[in-house]
Amino acid sequence: MAGSDALVEAARAARAFARAPYSGFAVGAALECADGTIVTGCNIENATYGLTVCAERVALFKALSEGRDQFVRIAVVADTVAPTPPCGPCRQLLWEYCGDIQVVMANLTVETGRHQLAALLPLPFDARLLD
Ligand code: THU
Repeated sequence: MAGSDALVEAARAARAFARAPYSGFAVGAALECADGTIVTGCNIENATYGLTVCAERVALFKALSEGRDQFVRIAVVADTVAPTPPCGPCRQLLWEYCGDIQVVMANLTVETGRHQLAALLPLPFDARLLD
């Protein structure tokens, strides 16, 4: 398992690549795979606004597209005093593909919070309900 700081540092570094000219709110994410590999993402906005993809989903889709399917933690970094938790759609997708991973939030200098994903997405709709 990568050290907590290494995961947060990876998210901080990824944040530098954010394409956020509309909101001005740059976010970095780093997803830790079970084998210790770290896959990063940043938010990518678009002039239509609605096509924006969050940093968490960029990291998740990168990882899935590389054949990775076992995840342990995700770090999310923004330049805020308060924690920046994953939005609702990101929670849904993280739950589907990562299960109950730990979500570590941090800003540019300190960790601001950590929660299990299950606590952030109580009573989820998922594949079990399609049986
Ligand atoms: N954003 C993320 O990338 N992750 C979050 O957890 C919260 C929000 C992005 C979406 C948008 O580009 C900008 O932050 C403002 O909402």
